[in-house]
Amino acid sequence: MISHALPWWQSGVIYQIYPRSFKDSNGDGVGDLQGIISRLDYLSWLGVDAMWISPFYPSPMADFGYDVTDYCGVDPLFGNLDTFDVLVEQAHQRNLKVIIDFVPNHTSDQHPWFQGSRQSRSHPQRDWHMWADPKADGSPPNNWLSMLGGSSAKPGTIWKAEVEQKSPAFVPAGSSWEWDAATQQYYLHSFLKQQPDLNWRNPAVRAAMFDVVRFWLERGVDGFRIDVANFIMKDPQLRDNPPNKDWAVFHKARGDYDSQLHIYDRGHPDVHGVLRELRGVLDSYSNQTPRVAIGELAVFTLQEWASYYGTNLDELHLPFNFSFLGASWNARSIRRIVETSEAVIPDGGWPNYVLGNHDEPRVASRLGTSQARVAMMLLLTLRGTPMVYYGDELGMRNVLIPPERIQDPQEKNVPGLGLGRDPSRTPMQWDDGPHAGFGPPNVEPWLPVAADYQQVNVAAEREEPSSMLRLTRELLAFRRSRPALHRGSYQGLESDSEQCFVYLRQFDHERLLVALNFSEEPQVVRIAEPGEGQILLSTSLNRKEHVNTMALRLDGHEGCIIELNFSI
Ligand code: GLC
Repeated sequence: MISHALPWWQSGVIYQIYPRSFKDSNGDGVGDLQGIISRLDYLSWLGVDAMWISPFYPSPMADFGYDVTDYCGVDPLFGNLDTFDVLVEQAHQRNLKVIIDFVPNHTSDQHPWFQGSRQSRSHPQRDWHMWADPKADGSPPNNWLSMLGGSSAKPGTIWKAEVEQKSPAFVPAGSSWEWDAATQQYYLHSFLKQQPDLNWRNPAVRAAMFDVVRFWLERGVDGFRIDVANFIMKDPQLRDNPPNKDWAVFHKARGDYDSQLHIYDRGHPDVHGVLRELRGVLDSYSNQTPRVAIGELAVFTLQEWASYYGTNLDELHLPFNFSFLGASWNARSIRRIVETSEAVIPDGGWPNYVLGNHDEPRVASRLGTSQARVAMMLLLTLRGTPMVYYGDELGMRNVLIPPERIQDPQEKNVPGLGLGRDPSRTPMQWDDGPHAGFGPPNVEPWLPVAADYQQVNVAAEREEPSSMLRLTRELLAFRRSRPALHRGSYQGLESDSEQCFVYLRQFDHERLLVALNFSEEPQVVRIAEPGEGQILLSTSLNRKEHVNTMALRLDGHEGCIIELNFSI
């Protein structure tokens, strides 16, 4: 078999850093770039290949950095461009890649572009953002809803009555249109009203944003995580979204945002052309090191998701596959997700998986700490690029945030539904000192530290052979050293256990079997084809025995990687 080296973003593992919460170097209670620099050795020790840093741009922080006032700067809270350059240099010295967030859908309302745009209807930058006239009755141009809530405008009355009939207790996210009294038009904000949407149909906007991309590529970044990548193109006719008939039954838990099908306010087919152009910019900088485009997408199906690879693999290298986040956590549904993903990805496309991020509840809270170990083994043994959210390698859990310490605007605007994202954004737990070693001992971090930090922290878990950290590190080392894991084929295997997911990863003569028990009960798994092998790594400590695939015993919540001796 010819063995070409894979680009780093295929063979490697990406670690997400939420910079406010990683490490506070200057004692203001908020993490910063210098803090990240001081922990690069930790990332090397852990064994990841790249970091994605969530936004650090100048921002009024209405949405904690996803509201940008200058795409080519660093907020003083986090450092400055010089600190950023040092970060890139120091990371590259350690062979760590740096991916940054790119927020193309919206600026902050304080961004000079929007300040110009809102000045008057005839301002040259008016058309940089999305403006529209009210309906005859003064209500917003259509029924589109803001995802983070908090708008002062309400959707049209007819639509609202329909929703109220379905659920009298609904919590309105509010219209995504905000009235501007000075210029007598509404502007669109798919998220907060402090986040006005850019008009990507305007060539001047595209040119300016592609210049931003070049700015960072010139500074040496290895790629971008593109925020809400498919929101940037909307229906040019601004048609109403149709109601979501399933909402009353399935989606009420997410507030009223999902009460409509988002077919017109995002994902317009023209978005593919823009992503191709963006990819062209990245490719023009990829002679020395491949630069990666990872995109956050809100999609309905895996088929739609796969379309963002591009028909000629010329759009996103890695459209985020979020399927595990909301999945029923059982062997059958996880296998279905993996196999559907594998099936729909265009030829030559590369899968990816995530277990958590800064918008989702922590995996250890969703699944429990024992099953989170199995989930980590799944993530780090599948075919495709794994992305690990900071702290998940420790088993960090959601933290209960007292009402007076709530920070997330989503929780403030759409309260009581558990949509708030603070619980999974709490300070990284470094040691058992005050505030888990996040910053100086006398400084209270911006969000509370988890109560269990004296056990769940880097320093303690480094010393504890059975810790989540040691397991994650071992899995990372395995993945790196075993071609079957980082580049081999994937094949799901039939077994007689409903509770277990078993698959084969293979490259050349190396064949690794992964067997995962999703239940708390021990299982004896019989795999359809006979074989023998050796357990190389188990989520249960010290199991290194010889096994037969006709009767493979797994503890409750156990996952194993087995090297097979014979062909199956
Ligand atoms: C993305 C980000 C989220 C942010 C939103 C608006 O979904 O992940 O944190 O609030 O975009 O920018």
